[in-house]
Amino acid sequence: MSVHSAVSVITTKRDGGELSDAQIDWVVDAFTRGEVADEQMSALAMAILLRGMTRRETARWTAAMLDSGKRLDFSDLPRPTVDKHSTGGVGDKLTLPLSPLVAACGAAVPQLSGRGLGHTGGTLDKLEAIPGWQADISVDRMREILADPAIGAVVCAAGADLAPADKRLYALRDVTGTVESIPLIASSIMSKKIAEGTGALVLDVKVGRGAFLKRLDQARELATAMVELGTDAGVRTVALLTAMDTPLGRTAGNALEVAESLEVLAGGGPADVVELTLTLAREMLVLAGIDGIDPADALADGRAMDHWRAMIAAQGGDPDAPLPRARHTETLVAPASGTLTRLDALDIGIAAWQLGAGRTRQGDSVQAGAGIEMHVKPGDPITAGHPLLTLHTDTPETIPTALETLRPAFTIGDTPANPTPLVLDRITAS
Ligand code: URA
Repeated sequence: MSVHSAVSVITTKRDGGELSDAQIDWVVDAFTRGEVADEQMSALAMAILLRGMTRRETARWTAAMLDSGKRLDFSDLPRPTVDKHSTGGVGDKLTLPLSPLVAACGAAVPQLSGRGLGHTGGTLDKLEAIPGWQADISVDRMREILADPAIGAVVCAAGADLAPADKRLYALRDVTGTVESIPLIASSIMSKKIAEGTGALVLDVKVGRGAFLKRLDQARELATAMVELGTDAGVRTVALLTAMDTPLGRTAGNALEVAESLEVLAGGGPADVVELTLTLAREMLVLAGIDGIDPADALADGRAMDHWRAMIAAQGGDPDAPLPRARHTETLVAPASGTLTRLDALDIGIAAWQLGAGRTRQGDSVQAGAGIEMHVKPGDPITAGHPLLTLHTDTPETIPTALETLRPAFTIGDTPANPTPLVLDRITAS
């Protein structure tokens, strides 16, 4: 029996004390080995949520989670590695155009991604809408794809051996009301990102109605903690705080978002998706030390699309196969004329999930074709009786519930709303 009994670690934090390095190392390791019980770790997570952790404690906690598993190393690749992580938003399909775009500009993009839970979709769910595409590939195959100058980007599922302590802890936090702790979120995200072996990382921290952080001050605190953790671990890290009151682009739902990403890769697509994709690409290229290349050129001249096609094919997908479409659609028309002044990201996200685009529990399946198409965005004029939103689903019995969710989702006014900026702040290492 260790001198660090689980109870003494829990009571130290419960009473507002600071955990020592030895206590943190022990408790994370013992939890991973099953020596600390789930109920003990849940109690500790609640004490951390209520009492917080210092910068030193958070860094040590992250390192302990990192040490619970394998750490990938791509430092021998001939090109610099850089990745992006988003904290999740509605219609946030940016990884899809961004990864091949940044690869087309000369970086290698190793991206270990997740499946969605609740109203924000997961990148793997979107890519799995492409016939044949496989999320599970070996580290050796990942390395081959990253080293290939015609591909250079890989988006795949994180293996079970990467930060296993986080996987177990996150499952406990999910069911014990302890997700919303800034040090626990920061260490959870950064332990996985550092383990994936990227040399640089751009964080897209979403703020607003459709994000899990609703307030700018919370998002700034999380972004600062993550930038510090990345920087201290030797990963060049920058965070952008970006608006998530309105969905990104004109689609929310897996295959619908792939189709919109293809428009962006073909040089078109909605203005907000293009703007944020280019902003993040420029940040990633700076961190990767690549200058003199404008990613807008790589979108316009088809190089990003070539990398997309190669990236999809490298993981078994058929880039030419028609995307799945839902069996039923229902279009909601505008009840009045005027200007659309508000389109609520949370309501759209929840309705898309109700239609079958998202899952309720880990392991549930999702419908590839389900989701919502937005025919107008805030600032656009609209005429009574014209299409506002189209609902897509294979399960038409979900449509009435989704329509109920969407009733308060929009406002039609007389005067155009002032456009709000997409990027609200930028956080760099101090
Ligand atoms: N995403 C994660 O990976 N971890 C958290 O704690 C919250 C969001």
